[in-house]
Amino acid sequence: MCGIVGYIGYRDAYPILIKGLHRLEYRGYDSAGVALINNDSKLSVYKAKGKVQDLEDFAKDKNITGTIGIAHTRWATHGEPSNANAHPHYSQSESLALIHNGIIENYTVLKAELTSKGYTFHSSTDTEVLVQLIEYIKSTNHCDLFTAVQLALNQVIGAYAIAVIDKSDPDQIIAARKSSPLVVGIGEDEFFLASDASPIVEYTNKVIYLEDEEIVVIRRGEEPKIVTISNVVSTPHIQELKLSLSQLEKGGYPHFMLKEIFEQPETLQSCMSGRINVEGTNVTLSGIIDYKEKFVNARRIIIIACGTSWHAGLIGEYLIEEYCRIPVEVEYASEFRYRNPVIFPDDIVIAISQSGETADSLAAIELARKAGAFVYGVCNVVGSSIPRNTDSGSYTHCGPEIGVASTKAFTAQVTVLAMMALAIAKEKGTIEKDVYLKILKELQNIPNKIKEILKLNEDIKNLSSIFTYAHNFIYLGRGYSYPVALEGALKLKEISYIHAEGYPAAEMKHGPIALIDNEMPIVAIATNNAIYEKVVSNIQEIKARNGRVIAIVSDGDETIKELADHYIQIPSTLECLDPLLSTIPLQLLAYHVAVHKNRDVDMPRNLAKSVTVE
Ligand code: M6R
Repeated sequence: MCGIVGYIGYRDAYPILIKGLHRLEYRGYDSAGVALINNDSKLSVYKAKGKVQDLEDFAKDKNITGTIGIAHTRWATHGEPSNANAHPHYSQSESLALIHNGIIENYTVLKAELTSKGYTFHSSTDTEVLVQLIEYIKSTNHCDLFTAVQLALNQVIGAYAIAVIDKSDPDQIIAARKSSPLVVGIGEDEFFLASDASPIVEYTNKVIYLEDEEIVVIRRGEEPKIVTISNVVSTPHIQELKLSLSQLEKGGYPHFMLKEIFEQPETLQSCMSGRINVEGTNVTLSGIIDYKEKFVNARRIIIIACGTSWHAGLIGEYLIEEYCRIPVEVEYASEFRYRNPVIFPDDIVIAISQSGETADSLAAIELARKAGAFVYGVCNVVGSSIPRNTDSGSYTHCGPEIGVASTKAFTAQVTVLAMMALAIAKEKGTIEKDVYLKILKELQNIPNKIKEILKLNEDIKNLSSIFTYAHNFIYLGRGYSYPVALEGALKLKEISYIHAEGYPAAEMKHGPIALIDNEMPIVAIATNNAIYEKVVSNIQEIKARNGRVIAIVSDGDETIKELADHYIQIPSTLECLDPLLSTIPLQLLAYHVAVHKNRDVDMPRNLAKSVTVE
């Protein structure tokens, strides 16, 4: 949460910073700000509540000159969204300006100490305390900015990615990270800083991903120097970015979310590419092959994740238990990390995350590793913190996901989990050859079947207009469709702000059935599977109470089409792969309801794409 950008070089910093903020706006968008050391050596800070566009409107007639600057787009943790709480924050003398992504947990103690020394504060943020502390150390120790930052960070408890500039030294940016991401871009006579590589890719493909507790000194005309907060010098590891600019643009779609929904046939191809052989008879995941003994001998698998990734984890549980016969538990990372769980050294922990930066997932990984478990990451963002903090893993390779509501990352996660289940089951000998081949073959048919479903976009758009009146929705599914019901409900609530609940269909009669009346839309995932008849009975029960049923059914279904008020017909597939198809109409339904309600689909209120605070 929160996006940070920095630039130092020979060009005007402001347009680069603003463009970078737009790219990072998915990380937080309640206020934004920029600090520049102007051509006349003045340090100017401009901030505005609202989106980056509001900052641009505010700054348009200000002095925005300068070839060095830092900028921030905020997701509030400490202090409401306001001009005062927006970053950058000045130090007391207004010589320093600092931006921060993370939380300084001991800020109240530090603030009290600084207040007693005469420092005054103009915001309710934890961040302002850090910039004041740096200035206090710099002036009392008569040291340079790097040393002051290093000493200050040694006093700080919490998470941070920071960047600081000092008007008395307009040739330098100092930045540091701990538990919040930070990337340095290396151009010709210019340097970039950002929370992820998206603001950088336009200018250079050479990057350094900072490690925890590293401080980087970026000075004009010199190579970046990296030193840890404990004063150990690190050798910068320059990597090449494999990201293209077109992946970061809407490509003619009105929203990133719609673009990402429509990309799914290609993203799933790319997720399987190089993993399933050309004959389509074998799946190889190098992360598993390298550690196959561990997987074969695993006592148990614990899946940890948050939000949509947790829903993918539930599908992973069904797949792994069914085909590998390994017991699986799926945990919210935020619960797991604080509940003193039993973790055995022969457990495997699978951490699923689109961003690879989710704070709770990272903390859960740390806990699992301390207990000696082998940790496997399933992530999308290459080079993010989770892949760098796990023993092995598989990328989902679905390209940058920018819409806050996760869509293509979910289907890619499920695809990776299906491939993992097949690969492990084959190694363990717990799957019949014909079943293995049948699933593998059908997995390769999924992208074309998704293309078929996407043709229903207009129908789903029309259907969604009927339901904009609703204040509540219920989503029902059983078996593999139960996590899909949870995911459908999450999609709807996060972008349309309509309350929605996902339930296992048979649980209805244990309580939620009381909610049903003729106004309640119920989305029933009723595709053709082993418990189809049971789902038919559940729909009967809802119809008997006048609920309005929107059913997702398989091609050729006649029974539910008769029963339901509305239906969306999708191609049939194997039960274990059904989530990859039944999810698509639910993504489209949520999208169109939100558009009908005029919601900010890609940047829904209160949310951020990457949840880097707990
Ligand atoms: O990056 P991650 O997959 O770790 O993120 C987890 C959740 O924050 C994320 O899935 C969130 O629930 C999405 N907004 C759902 O659409």
